[in-house]
Amino acid sequence: MISTLSKQIKQYKRETILTPIMVALEVVLDILIPFLMSKMVDLGVEAGNMSVVWHYGLLMLLCAIGALICGALSGKYAAVASAGFAKNVREAEFRNIQNFSFSNIDEYSTGGLITRLTTDVTNVQMAFQMIIRIAVRSPLNFCMALFMVFYLAPNIAWWLLLVVVLLGVAVGFMIKKAGPVFGKMFKMYDNLNEEIQENITGIRPVKSFVREDYEIDRFNKRSKDIYDVNKKAELLMILNQPFVQIAMYACILIVSWVGAKQIVGGSMEVGTMMSLFTYIMNLLMSLMMFSMILVMVTMSAASAKRIVEVINQVSYLESPKDGLKEVKDGSVEFDHVYFNYAEQVDGHYVLRDVDFKINSGETIGILGPTGSSKTSLVSLIPRLYDVTKGAVKVGGVDVRDYDLKTLRDAVSMVLQKNVLFSGTIKENMRWGDEQATDEQIVESCRLAQADDFISRMPDGYDTYIEQGGTNVSGGQRQRLTIARALLKKPKILILDDSTSAVDTKTDALIREAFQTKIPNITKIIISQRVSSIQDADRILVLDRGHLVNVGSHDELMKTSEIYRSTYLAQQKGGNDNESENA
Ligand SMILES: Nc1ncnc2c1ncn2[C@@H]1O[C@H](COP(=O)(O)OP(=O)(O)OP(=O)(O)O)[C@@H](O)[C@H]1O
Ligand SMILES: [Mg+2]
Repeated sequence: MISTLSKQIKQYKRETILTPIMVALEVVLDILIPFLMSKMVDLGVEAGNMSVVWHYGLLMLLCAIGALICGALSGKYAAVASAGFAKNVREAEFRNIQNFSFSNIDEYSTGGLITRLTTDVTNVQMAFQMIIRIAVRSPLNFCMALFMVFYLAPNIAWWLLLVVVLLGVAVGFMIKKAGPVFGKMFKMYDNLNEEIQENITGIRPVKSFVREDYEIDRFNKRSKDIYDVNKKAELLMILNQPFVQIAMYACILIVSWVGAKQIVGGSMEVGTMMSLFTYIMNLLMSLMMFSMILVMVTMSAASAKRIVEVINQVSYLESPKDGLKEVKDGSVEFDHVYFNYAEQVDGHYVLRDVDFKINSGETIGILGPTGSSKTSLVSLIPRLYDVTKGAVKVGGVDVRDYDLKTLRDAVSMVLQKNVLFSGTIKENMRWGDEQATDEQIVESCRLAQADDFISRMPDGYDTYIEQGGTNVSGGQRQRLTIARALLKKPKILILDDSTSAVDTKTDALIREAFQTKIPNITKIIISQRVSSIQDADRILVLDRGHLVNVGSHDELMKTSEIYRSTYLAQQKGGNDNESENA
């Protein structure tokens, strides 16, 4: 964990090293001041010697100025180092998340990832700053102060040490209790974040189902849980206070008692006693500081662990070294494919022994009840997931042998849960092909029957799409995503229920355009609507992960019970059972 994180210091090494050096200098100068003061009092003030007073006074002033400068510099370096470190950590996380395969993404929740990129990074940044600054400062300060006490008054020092050790034990005990409570609190914040994320992204359904009160209750409960744990943790920490107070008074009493006796006996000067008081405060303060950092750092250890998980997560789907850079044609072959999303021991498969061949340029329809694994089946073609057993071949070659980018450029898939990004329509289209000319964009949009409504928008192709594509209708969004997929000039085009929100007439126009304008592209069209696929060369019928029938519309009407019943049901329903599925 530490090695992964320390790699992220990178260009901020200089600041990271300079910070503790400056801190150390500051501590040394700080510790000298009370010592100089004692000298000034004992040798100058008491003896009435003004030149000695001046001498030590000047030295004290220099030390103070030096300490101030070192303090300011250490603060500056620490700020630069920690902010830079946090920046690098964030960037490393984000970069790796972009490498995640679909199955990696399935493992993390969106809310969880956001926390790992934001709150967790802030925690680690704070801990980092504390480590390079205060974690150096307080132990050093402690040792120096202790050294000075032993130097000035060894017989009192042993007593003080005893008190400090007792206090240390008490504080340590407290931390041990508080640590797990803080850990629990973090976990709860995580849950809260996930819940907020879910609620905000799903605010429309929340409103349309009038679930606001329920959501508020749920949120308040989580919030109250955090309050309870937070209170407990803080109470434990506050208990530190009286212990420190007791320790402080005990030390003062010891110094006053023993010191007074020694001063009367002539074996100690007044100035020495004064500086002893300062050192006691120093000792106790550094102990307190150190215990606080200990709590903070253990707390952020959980955050650090979560960040490291993301940075070190290997993608389950790596592009092979020297992968093939060319896809010969648009043929697809499933060779006894078994597939599961996660390891499963009970022998259950999402796809079971699926075996078929598609020729390049064919139009294939896929039909099957919801949950029959249609999406899972086509996801294997652009290698969004890897098969569990068997093989998927594109252009006669196992998809695992292709360079991933080459494969995905050749296989354009319009996802069922399609998304547009914030930006103009043109910018969105150029996701498909960065170099696409305006004419090519218009042509793709014509094919997808999107040109019409785009032209009618006030800003045309420069219309700004809001985040998530909220300012276009479901059907418009689907057509835009089809156009975007077409711009890739793929060899295989997969539409996963991509016209579900488009009216049947436009749907027919899209299919017609596909037939005439892009006849050579292999088209795989998933649809719940028989009318969308009945003209296909062949139709695959899926049921619970099995490929149950293959054939043309006419053949399937005779051979497939599922196909026939679906067809008849839709005929009765007026052949138009649109669902808002975007
Ligand atoms: N990311 C995933 N992780 C785990 N299981 C999944 C995942 N996606 C789908 N499944 C499971 O795989 C099975 C098939 O789902 P799939 O999405 O392929 O069905 P589908 O035929 O596309 O359904 P629909 O018509 O509703 O889109 C379902 O049982 C589902 O629970
Ligand atoms: Mg699906």
